Amino acid sequence: MRQTFALLASLAAMALCGANSHRHYSRGINTNRTTNLDWDAARSKAIAFVAQLNNLEKVNLVTGGFDVGPCIGNIGPVERLSFKGYCMSDGPAGVNRADLVSIFPSGITAAATWDRQLMYDRGFAIGEEFKEKGIHVMLGPSTGPMGRHPLGGRNWEGFGPDPYLSGVSIAATVHGAQENGVQTCSKHFIANEQETQRSQTVSDRDVTEAISSNVDDRTLHELYLWPFAEAIKAGTASIMCSYNRINSTYACENPELLEQLLRKELGFRGYVVSDWFATHSTVGSANAGLDVEMPGRMIKIGNLLPANAPIYFGENLLQAVAGGNVSMERLDEMVIRVLSPYFVLGQDKNYPSIDPSAFAVLAAHEFGFPTIEALNYSLNDVWGRDVRGNHAGLIRKIGAAGTVLLKNVNDTLPLKALKNIAVFGNDAADILDGQSNPPTGYDVGTVYIGGGSGRIRPEDPVSPLAAIKERAKKDGARVKAITNNTLIANGIFTTIYPLPDVCLVFLKTYAAESQDRNSFELDHHSSTVVSNTASWCRNTVVITHSSGVNIMPWAYHPNVTAILAAHYPGEQSGNAIADVLWGDRAPSGHLPYTIPVTEADYGLPIVNLTNVADPKGWQSDFTEGQLIDYRRFDARNITPLYEFGFGLTYTTFGMGAKLTVRALMDNPRAVPDPPQSISVGGHPELWENLVEIETSVTNTGSRAGEAVAQLYLSFPKSGVPEGTPVKVLRGFEKISIKPGETKKVTFKLKRRDLSFWDVVKSTWALPVGDFTVKAGFSSRDLRAEARFALNGSTDI
Ligand SMILES: *[C@@H]1O[C@H](CO)[C@@H](O)[C@H](O)[C@H]1NC(C)=O
Ligand SMILES: *[C@@H]1O[C@H](CO)[C@@H](O)[C@H](O)[C@H]1NC(C)=O
Ligand SMILES: *[C@@H]1O[C@H](CO)[C@@H](O)[C@H](O)[C@H]1NC(C)=O
Ligand SMILES: *[C@@H]1O[C@H](CO)[C@@H](O)[C@H](O)[C@H]1NC(C)=O
Ligand SMILES: *[C@@H]1O[C@H](CO)[C@@H](O)[C@H](O)[C@H]1NC(C)=O
Ligand SMILES: *[C@@H]1O[C@H](CO)[C@@H](O)[C@H](O)[C@H]1NC(C)=O
Ligand SMILES: *[C@@H]1O[C@H](CO)[C@@H](O)[C@H](O)[C@H]1NC(C)=O
Ligand SMILES: *[C@@H]1O[C@H](CO)[C@@H](O)[C@H](O)[C@H]1NC(C)=O
Ligand SMILES: *[C@@H]1O[C@H](CO)[C@@H](O)[C@H](O)[C@H]1NC(C)=O
Repeated sequence: MRQTFALLASLAAMALCGANSHRHYSRGINTNRTTNLDWDAARSKAIAFVAQLNNLEKVNLVTGGFDVGPCIGNIGPVERLSFKGYCMSDGPAGVNRADLVSIFPSGITAAATWDRQLMYDRGFAIGEEFKEKGIHVMLGPSTGPMGRHPLGGRNWEGFGPDPYLSGVSIAATVHGAQENGVQTCSKHFIANEQETQRSQTVSDRDVTEAISSNVDDRTLHELYLWPFAEAIKAGTASIMCSYNRINSTYACENPELLEQLLRKELGFRGYVVSDWFATHSTVGSANAGLDVEMPGRMIKIGNLLPANAPIYFGENLLQAVAGGNVSMERLDEMVIRVLSPYFVLGQDKNYPSIDPSAFAVLAAHEFGFPTIEALNYSLNDVWGRDVRGNHAGLIRKIGAAGTVLLKNVNDTLPLKALKNIAVFGNDAADILDGQSNPPTGYDVGTVYIGGGSGRIRPEDPVSPLAAIKERAKKDGARVKAITNNTLIANGIFTTIYPLPDVCLVFLKTYAAESQDRNSFELDHHSSTVVSNTASWCRNTVVITHSSGVNIMPWAYHPNVTAILAAHYPGEQSGNAIADVLWGDRAPSGHLPYTIPVTEADYGLPIVNLTNVADPKGWQSDFTEGQLIDYRRFDARNITPLYEFGFGLTYTTFGMGAKLTVRALMDNPRAVPDPPQSISVGGHPELWENLVEIETSVTNTGSRAGEAVAQLYLSFPKSGVPEGTPVKVLRGFEKISIKPGETKKVTFKLKRRDLSFWDVVKSTWALPVGDFTVKAGFSSRDLRAEARFALNGSTDI
């Protein structure tokens, strides 16, 4: 490792080009590299490459190792063929374990923008930072977990529980990131919906297997697999199989998932890599379709890395090939798949070298100062490359666009003519005591991003309090703050004088990998903090920084005049929220999930067993099928506090009462003929547009603003099996409109959008009968409706 490090450190730093993309992205059409990926040509190059390898070299290309590179995932070089190996790094909202990088808004924040262009720009900028650090594979984006459980510890890394919104988000991210030539690794495949017992646990006495997500075929296709299909269609280079079991078989050795679904059905041509330590067999995994084991060979650094962690590929795979248990053809195929993305994305041409600081920061991050090794590496060098470019501006913009205005009584916001501002809450302040991992994280300090492998090291973050002080200067307003929640919860406000015009209360929910959340309420006495403040402050504005779903028992308090859900906005958190509060930018986010009145409304608690005697006892039956989030609330007729798709802004919008439906294909067959050959993303006809729907949106207020027009589809009742949701999101468009102006919006529905997964025929099928479409501004604010059948008849 030291040798590798010294070698890398001596390489010259790359010149940087931090420019923003300014590429126009619309429905994934206008990107270049990613729509024109020539997988056939890349495969030919990979085949020619493999033909020159001996067995040991082949096995090394499918086995990770800390002995061959400085990253959290490394594939070693083949020097004689000028292949420099792969450096892999988490993901998914920036470069984890690195210095001089940006903390981008989390996945859930990006989804809350409902803005394809920003999703693409975010993906592009993240990809740019990975590339300039010399990282070949970005371990992200994530769409697993989706958010079956609102308390899932990693929900914020992905794009929420709706497959359509998640699908659009992940495709835009893959397009944006890979446009740089960086490989994306879409994860975690699949039904990895809880952190509790996500992996096998091994004690001295016994082994307890990971949770098994037991999901039926239709639910898998219409819900959990949907966004992965989008990622594959967008050209994702790799897929990470998850820790959990599916139907009692580990995801990374499940031929039904890896061979049948990914390869045969979805035409995936890249490689499947195991989540770190998610491989549990040699022959079974290799033959099921796992292409790469990570992290593979460990090394001993002090007593920090377990040198004895089991490894299933490497030497074991070599023997399995020698013994005929894994065929040479299969081994070759594994290597071909590993190398195809390298060629398809042009990584063989002028890819940057790995950043010299890579191992020093990895060591510090993983093992913590002051271990001797980390200090040694750190002292020996090393300034990394600053790859942030001008990304702060984009991060700030996405922060505002992903902030959801939930309540705004009497136009409290934007703030106007203020003299005295009070700021309350530990979430307003700079981080005091660093990052720690009890269930609710550190006490004082705002949450820019969640914890675990998705955390990004803060370089130059701006807290809400710092930004508000700065912004208030312009108005000559005074700012007083209490950031100790214990004091606020005890009702001690003695430092506040004079009476503030507005009280800004910042609350947080911390979430992290390897632990699920314990509470729907925001952390650190949040409800008492709000009620104590609102008991005397008539103009209390609550801002949340959260991984997703919370309950808000104070939402109807008469003195709580405005509520903003700002999610995890990344390093420009403070500036983004100041922009929104003062109206320099309007909040334009919409909820990518449902906020319930009480947690009981949500159902589906995390499985959490105690004293399990059966080593295979952790089972999670997904008997609710597709009825998660708003689909459950619809099916059970439960009124949420704030529904999926909801979001206010500083103006108002109207929608024309008429929806125009146009058939783009006459009498489409219910099931398309099998294709000649399978394409990337699956049967090509699934991606053809069959119907176009048009509506119009008018800005009825007095400020310019951005509307999110949404389209929900109900399947013909008699044409689909039981378990079909009341309605599903099948289109959205974010549009900027001036006061008084009207704009047309069109939604195009693809064959797959209009089909259900027929489990008997194992295919997508169009149901017979009348579809209903409704358009509006949230899943419960629907302004226009139309009915149509696929034989061309329409009806209002
Ligand atoms: C696509 O590539 C062409 C030529 O290679 C270039 O002129 C064009 O600007 C690119 N478009 C985008 C959106 O990057
Ligand atoms: C899991 O089991 C269900 C119920 O038998 C079945 O519908 C589904 O296809 C199975 N999925 C996988 C990936 O094995
Ligand atoms: C390999 O195949 C041989 C012969 O079929 C069998 O006896 C042996 O158990 C297999 N080994 C593994 C690891 O599957
Ligand atoms: C740290 O560096 C010093 C000086 O180069 C060296 O003597 C020592 O062995 C190193 N310690 C470790 C644990 O690598
Ligand atoms: C909102 O305005 C109405 C009408 O002016 C007033 O009665 C009400 O008290 C106001 N509410 C708040 C919370 O200020
Ligand atoms: C917050 O205030 C309480 C009560 O005075 C005190 O015990 C605690 O140490 C303070 N917390 C911090 C982070 O200062
Ligand atoms: C699961 O149970 C354990 C032990 O009872 C508890 O410590 C933990 O907080 C629980 N996890 C969740 C997510 O409820
Ligand atoms: C709202 O604030 C006023 C003081 O400004 C206070 O008198 C009143 O009791 C508060 N309302 C509630 C419900 O706490
Ligand atoms: C089209 O399908 C609808 C619903 O199945 C049916 O009511 C209608 O008669 C059909 N029209 C034609 C022209 O086939």
